[in-house]
Parts: sequence; structure tokens; C-alpha cells
Amino acid sequence: MSLLDDVNRIEKEASEKIMQAVGDDGLTAIQVKYLGRKGELTAILKGLKDLSVDERKKIGAAANKIRVSLEAKIKAAKEQSSTKSSDSFFDPTLPGTGNYVGAAHIVTQSIDEICAIFHGMGFEIAKGPDIETDYNNFEGLNFPPDHPARDEQDTFFVEGGRVLRTHTTPVQTRMLHSRKPPIKCITPGKCFRNEAISTRAHVAFHQVDGFLVDQGVTMADLKGALISFCRAYFGDGLKFKIRPSYFPFTEPSWEIDISCFLCKGEGCQVCKYSGWLEILGCGMIDPNVLEMAGIDSEKHTGYAFGMGVERPAMLKHGINDVRLFFNNDVRFLRQFR
Ligand code: DAH
Repeated sequence: MSLLDDVNRIEKEASEKIMQAVGDDGLTAIQVKYLGRKGELTAILKGLKDLSVDERKKIGAAANKIRVSLEAKIKAAKEQSSTKSSDSFFDPTLPGTGNYVGAAHIVTQSIDEICAIFHGMGFEIAKGPDIETDYNNFEGLNFPPDHPARDEQDTFFVEGGRVLRTHTTPVQTRMLHSRKPPIKCITPGKCFRNEAISTRAHVAFHQVDGFLVDQGVTMADLKGALISFCRAYFGDGLKFKIRPSYFPFTEPSWEIDISCFLCKGEGCQVCKYSGWLEILGCGMIDPNVLEMAGIDSEKHTGYAFGMGVERPAMLKHGINDVRLFFNNDVRFLRQFR
């Protein structure tokens, strides 16, 4: 075999190997084998000096051309293999790497769920600010300046005579003062009370209030709406207790208790060993509240109700400590994605 045959064989062999090579390492090995310091093509080039002038010209030109072409092919193959190398061989059966995707906080999810149920019953959703005037939070809701009920609500006072709203009922004041009946809305949001933090109570928490003002609204409408809500939110099989109560802005007033799901009524820390959970207050809107808002209480009546968000969520999801909602421990939060 002539040297020229050798050069041609090297070209054929190396080109085929380059085509089949997988990964950078494979290509480097080919490069070393043929073009490296002790490579086959390099050996031929080194031997040129021993050849006749004619042969040196002929074989030298051919070998050099092939060297350049093989180098180019290896370079191109390496570039391609950086996007498709044996190391990054795609195995579709492997589990995905996945990203952590954020999710709504359990309190937000609960508010959304409560709102969706009432929205489905025709309630509009209204919101108000966390910092309220004394009028909206108390006075417009029939708490006169020295009314003892004001002491029941341990209020955080803010500069300028304002307060951190102690309930979401002030949004009712705002709506009654700015709209004309019929008004049917719910008012979800944050509330604040200066209370000792425990398994059942926190200084910041959430409520959803709701009310309807129209002509001929009665307690039967209230009961129907609330029982429908409880069944939709907690499911069937719930026991209800409707007890007389007192709120300055409703007359008459009631509280609705539902049987404790956590302990099935046997008594636990959450229900204070009573088997029942107070979940909401309600009543017929006091005529004074309507009159203060310029609504004729001879013509219009209304019902109102207010509930916490955390407590019903605890009941529903078997959570036994309200502080868990606010500790931001992802091990807790991840359970509600
Ligand atoms: N605002 C009351 C509270 O925080 C709850 C409440 C009771 C709201 C009766 C109402 C209602 O709208 O009618 O304890």
C-alpha cells in the first residue's frame, strides 16, 4: 500500500468515526488517534522529509488537506455535542426535576372558598381599609362613644384617632353610606385585636361579614343563607345551634354554633371541650344603623352576619392551633397546596 492509500484510509476511517462519536471525550480520542503528536496522520507528515521531492509534494498536499478537513469536522462535531452529548443523554423515564411553584396561603384559599360560595348566592364582594375611622368601626355601627361594647373589643389605636379595624363590619358602614338598597354583599379582610395569643386567638386574623338590605328581608332569609353556606362549606351532617346574642348593630342578634368536626363533639382543645364551635354572629340590622346611613328603616330591613376565617378553616382541615396560620412554616403551608 502506498502512503497515499494510507492517507485516504485515514480520511475515510476518521470521518466515519467522527460521525459515530458520542460526546466530547469520544471526539478528543479520535483527534489524538489521528492528529495528535503521535497520531497516524501526524506520523505521515513527519515522515515527509524522507520522501522524494515529487512524493513529498503530492503526499504532503493530500495529507495537509485531510488534516485541515478532519480538524474542521471534529470542531463542528464538538460544537454539536455540547448540546447533545452522551452525558446529557435524555432518558424520558427519569422523574422530572420540577420547580417549586408558589401557592395561595391557606387563609387566602379559605377566603376565596367562602367568597365563591356567597358569590354563587348572589353576594357582591366589597373591601375596605385595615385602618378605619372610629365612626366606621364603632359609631356608625351603633356603638355610642361610651358604649360598654367598645371595651369588649380590645382595640389597637392609631395616630389621628383612627383604629386598626377590630372587625370587617365597618365595610358595611361604608357600603350603607355610599349605596342605595338593595345591597347584598360580603366583605372579607384582616382584623386586629389586642388579645393574648393562644391556640384559639391571635392579634391579627380574618373575617368575612355579609349583609343584605332590601324591602321585606326577614330572619328566614338570614337562616336560609347561612345554613346553605355552612352545608356548602363544611358538608352535610352538621349540627346547628342558633342562640340569642347581642351586637350593637343588630337587633335581634344571634350566634350560630356548629358541631365540632375535630373531636366529633366529644370535646377538645379547639372547642374548649364543649363539642361546639361558635362560627358566626348574625342578626337583623338595627334600624339605627340604617337611619344613620340615611336609609328609611320603615321601608327597608336587612340582615347581617360575620364570621372568622381561621376557625372554620381549622374545623374543616383539622388544624388545632390558630398560630400555625401565621408562623409561615412551610411544612404546615405545603399541606394546603
Ligand atoms: N363584628 C362581629 C364581631 O367581630 C361579628 C358580627 C356579628 C358581624 C353580627 C355581623 C353581625 O355583621 O351581624 O364579633
